[in-house]
Order: sequence, then C-alpha cells, then structure tokens
Amino acid sequence: MPLLELQDVTASYASVQVLDGISLSVPEGGAVGVLGANGAGKTTTLRAITGVVRAGGSIRFLGRDIRGLRPDQVAALGIAHVPEGRGTLGDLTVRENLKVGAYLRKDRAGIASDIDYCLDLFPQLKERVSANGSTLSGGEQQMLAVARAFMAKPKLLLLDEASLGLAPGTAKSVYQAIKRLRVESGISMLVVEQNANLAFSLVDEAVVLETGRSVLSGPTEELRTMDEIRRAYLGG
Ligand SMILES: Nc1ncnc2c1ncn2[C@@H]1O[C@H](COP(=O)(O)OP(=O)(O)O)[C@@H](O)[C@H]1O
Ligand SMILES: [Mg+2]
Repeated sequence: MPLLELQDVTASYASVQVLDGISLSVPEGGAVGVLGANGAGKTTTLRAITGVVRAGGSIRFLGRDIRGLRPDQVAALGIAHVPEGRGTLGDLTVRENLKVGAYLRKDRAGIASDIDYCLDLFPQLKERVSANGSTLSGGEQQMLAVARAFMAKPKLLLLDEASLGLAPGTAKSVYQAIKRLRVESGISMLVVEQNANLAFSLVDEAVVLETGRSVLSGPTEELRTMDEIRRAYLGG
C-alpha cells in the first residue's frame, strides 16, 4: 500500500476547474517529484492534499480517504506542508519557529534533540538561532521552513518549490540538506519543483503535470533522458 495515493483528483477555484485528473503515489520512504510549468496545478495539488482546497477524486493516506478533512486534521495524521513562499513567522526567532513546528508533540527530550539536529543540518540557522525570522535571507527562510515542518515529525513532507527565488548555489545547498534529511530520517516526500535538475537530485521518480493533468511519470533516471523533459525542464 502506498503512503499517499491520488487518483483522478480534480479541484476548482470558484467555478474554474484547475485540476482535471491528477494521479500519483508516494511509496513509504519514497520521494516523488511533481514537475510542471507555472500554472500547471502543482501548488493546487498540494492544497488538495492538505484540505485547503476542496477536491474530487480520491486522496488516500495510509489507505484512508483523507479528502474532505480540514487542514489541521491532515497535519495531525502526519503530513507537513512547506508552502510556496515559505510561511515562516517573521516576529519569532529561529528557535521559536522550530518550537512552533513541534506544537503537537509532547516529547520534550525528542523536541530538543530534533532542534539540535535541524541546526546541525542547516549550520546557517545555528548562527542565527536567536534572530527574528524577518531578518533572515531568502535561503535561510527556506531552510527554516523545511526545518520547522520536520519538527512536526511528519510521515510525509510536502515541499513547494523550495528553490524559488534563491540564487543557484543557495538552492543547491538547500536541496543537499533536504537530501541528507531524507537519507537520515527516512521521511517520505512529495517535491514540487520547476527546476527539474534540483528535483532529480532528491527524488526517485516524478510526475509531470500539464494544465491540471498528470501526463507523464516514471523513475528519475528514465525521465532525465527523455527529450521532451530535457527540452521543457532541463534547459536542453
Ligand atoms: N486562489 C486562486 N484563485 C483562482 N485561481 C487560482 C488560484 N490559485 C491558482 N489559481 C490558478 O490555478 C491554476 C493552477 O495554479 P497553481 O496550482 O498555483 O499552479 P503551479 O503551482 O503549478 O504554478 C493557474 O491557472 C492559476 O492561475
Ligand atoms: Mg506553485
């Protein structure tokens, strides 16, 4: 049984349908990419999973239909969302943001050791642990958003364009840290990206969306060599 399975998912804003049949699945311990141009429906797919937008079709997490649940109920099941634009809390410090991420947990010792782990994973955050979120650079905010989501100890991490607006070197180091997090924690991931090279550095397989439909999917190694993927997403 996959950890997460979407079948023929549809969604609309007002009366405009923007998801028109999305199917994908994330195996337990796996990382799956969602590629697609601007406006393809990547963010809406994540919002359908987290219950922020109402969806049709089937969305199953650990075999249970989670369609129609509220966002807080979805989070409580073990799905953490790192939204587009990061959503860190600017008036809290880095350490406070990490504690907020752990708000549903009771294991004080585990929380403390996971905060240490996050600061080890992102040394730039360690240097700025008492700084307010609003004073962080874009890259540091992205690191904090990922770390804060991890602090919930989720089974599944949803990442929305973690590279957006970052300098290439910064984006690469954010992805390297997420890869390390994946290897060391075994956490499953659904990784939305426009930058296929970065996504391919992290995921085992990927799905390509075009105007609200999943049109292609396969293992990373296969997609990497396909002409249409190279032209559209790999700059060549
Ligand atoms: N809040 C919204 N209200 C109306 N239309 C929206 C809203 N958010 C996104 N859309 C539209 O839905 C489509 C899919 O958007 P989105 O899921 O954000 O795509 P992506 O993340 O792949 O860029 C686009 O045509 C976009 O303009
Ligand atoms: Mg988006």
